[in-house]
Amino acid sequence: MTELCYECHKDEAEKYFKIYIHKPVSDRQCSACHASHASAYDKLLKDSQANLCMKCHDSMYLEVEEEGTHPLFKDKKCGTCHDPHASDYIASTIMPSNKLCFTCHEAVMAGITESSVKHLPVEEGKCTECHSPHGTKLKYQLLNRPNELCLSCHERIITTTARKGHISMENGDCLSCHSSHYSDIKYLLKGADPSICVQCHTADTERLLKVHRESLSKISRCTSCHEPHVTEQPGLLREIKHEPFTRGDCEACHV
Ligand code: HEC
Ligand code: HEC
Ligand code: HEC
Ligand code: HEC
Ligand code: HEC
Ligand code: HEC
Ligand code: HEC
Ligand code: HEC
Ligand code: HEC
Ligand code: HEC
Ligand code: HEC
Repeated sequence: MTELCYECHKDEAEKYFKIYIHKPVSDRQCSACHASHASAYDKLLKDSQANLCMKCHDSMYLEVEEEGTHPLFKDKKCGTCHDPHASDYIASTIMPSNKLCFTCHEAVMAGITESSVKHLPVEEGKCTECHSPHGTKLKYQLLNRPNELCLSCHERIITTTARKGHISMENGDCLSCHSSHYSDIKYLLKGADPSICVQCHTADTERLLKVHRESLSKISRCTSCHEPHVTEQPGLLREIKHEPFTRGDCEACHV
């Protein structure tokens, strides 16, 4: 069949000879999508573009939830991102995927340009390392829950299997302290040390006053003594400590 079509459509024969060729095109099934004689749809299509793609790909909707579905995918506007015939980019997208998302998500691009701290995979446009372009069961089409998603590349920050400390705290996942795309504060933080800490640790309990010897509000840097993530030390204390400090001999230096 393709030979027949290509006999006159010589341009197409050349145009569709790309690195990624859509299976029905390479299988010479032009008629899976096009009518040979006449059609009510533009470009001699056998059905609306949306229905056409669904004929073979409707199982993709089994894996998504309403809340986590990209509006273009929900509306079956596959052609906004994909070439129906062939392309030189993975999954036959109309342009490389690291440019594709930025064409509409200008706010993310602007944020990256204007911020001093940029998350490398975001800056490189590798949006699909974290987001499905179509949908998932999670909000924002995330490929995994934030903690698991972040740890899939940052397992190194978990230095202990104990998993004690902030990693497992309720609501205290990575995103309670870090931004996912960009920030103006070092380490992609949502607030600088100590303000990020005292946002949750608001009250000077008797116990806190005792162990710190002063009000939390007077401390200028929490992470000089505390690890932000996990540690096997009690109280999330940093591993390497000054001997008199370890002994709890604060009076050696403080009045
Ligand atoms: C005898 C020559 C010939 C053959 C064989 C042929 N076409 Fe065409 N086709 C044309 C011409 C002429 C046009 C109109 C000019 C153009 O757009 O290139 C056209 C246009 C089209 C269009 C565009 C319609 C539009 O609205 O823009 C499609 C789609 C198409 N053909 C598909 C096919 C398919 C699929 C086959 C194989 C089943 C095929 N053609 C075989 C000559 C041919
Ligand atoms: C999976 C469905 C599908 C298959 C298979 C398919 N086409 Fe198409 N084709 C489309 C769609 C959708 C459009 C409309 C694209 C648009 O409007 O942007 C199109 C448009 C065209 C056009 C009009 C020019 C253009 O690119 O917009 C031609 C010619 C054409 N197809 C030829 C072919 C030929 C020849 C084959 C077989 C080698 C083929 N198509 C196989 C879906 C398909
Ligand atoms: C006649 C059946 C059929 C139709 C209609 C169809 N596809 Fe496909 N498509 C396939 C098959 C078969 C594959 C290869 C197996 C797979 O990955 O599922 C495929 C693969 C793809 C891929 C992945 C390509 C890759 O390189 O990984 C994309 C993207 C795609 N189709 C988009 C579309 C779009 C957009 C439409 C509607 C314009 C469409 N398909 C219509 C059968 C079809
Ligand atoms: C917002 C852009 C966008 C839209 C809309 C979109 N896709 Fe995709 N699609 C992509 C990108 C980007 C990839 C490559 C994913 C990757 O790099 O992991 C992809 C991959 C695919 C694949 C191959 C891998 C897979 O997930 O199975 C298929 C098949 C596919 N798309 C079909 C479709 C169909 C069918 C539609 C319409 C219902 C559609 N896409 C709508 C951007 C899009
Ligand atoms: C053709 C334009 C267009 C392209 C291309 C596009 N998007 Fe979107 N995207 C939208 C629109 C419109 C919305 C809904 C409005 C909004 O939240 O910005 C949206 C929403 C989203 C959302 C959810 C936002 C929310 O608040 O729930 C994510 C995540 C997303 N897109 C990721 C991507 C990724 C990843 C890509 C590249 C694979 C991509 N988009 C490509 C237009 C686009
Ligand atoms: C490292 C993982 C990661 C990468 C890479 C990534 N995102 Fe996100 N994105 C997230 C997470 C997590 C959220 C949801 C929580 C939040 O707001 O930070 C999100 C939220 C979003 C939202 C909805 C909220 C908002 O800010 O508007 C959009 C739209 C979005 N991302 C688009 C993109 C685009 C476009 C790219 C590529 C340029 C991209 N993301 C790359 C992890 C990522
Ligand atoms: C696809 C892999 C990947 C994923 C997923 C990922 N990151 Fe990253 N992240 C990187 C890379 C690459 C860098 C830059 C190199 C480095 O510092 O390790 C980086 C750097 C960072 C930095 C240090 C930034 C700086 O300026 O020093 C933080 C903080 C961070 N990521 C947090 C997160 C959070 C939070 C998530 C989950 C929303 C996440 N990452 C998900 C790959 C990833
Ligand atoms: C309680 C706040 C908080 C939480 C929750 C948190 N971080 Fe951090 N993170 C920080 C602070 C503060 C830094 C600055 C470096 C330091 O002081 O050790 C940092 C630094 C980082 C760095 C860069 C430095 C390094 O050690 O490589 C990465 C990567 C990182 N965090 C990833 C994550 C991931 C992934 C999660 C979730 C599993 C997470 N963070 C949860 C506060 C937090
Ligand atoms: C989103 C809220 C939140 C933020 C932000 C936060 N914490 Fe916490 N922190 C908690 C909760 C809740 C606990 C209780 C422990 C648990 O439930 O796992 C805790 C526990 C602690 C503990 C005691 C751990 C133990 O094992 O006894 C220390 C020390 C601590 N945080 C220091 C910090 C520091 C330093 C920062 C800033 C880098 C910070 N926290 C930021 C919520 C937060
Ligand atoms: C070896 C001497 C020494 C010992 C022992 C010591 N400190 Fe300090 N501490 C200092 C000095 C010097 C500073 C001010 C400079 C600095 O911030 O590093 C300081 C600062 C502090 C601060 C303020 C930090 C800030 O960021 O604002 C607190 C709180 C504190 N010490 C508590 C303690 C507690 C609690 C102990 C006992 C468990 C202790 N110190 C033991 C020397 C010591
Ligand atoms: C000078 C070192 C030092 C600094 C700076 C410091 N802490 Fe601590 N913190 C300690 C010590 C020592 C403990 C007691 C650890 C243990 O033995 O459980 C502690 C314990 C804690 C605890 C757990 C209390 C409990 O119930 O066991 C919290 C929460 C805490 N610190 C929060 C903070 C916050 C928030 C900041 C910054 C505003 C901060 N710390 C700054 C030394 C410090």
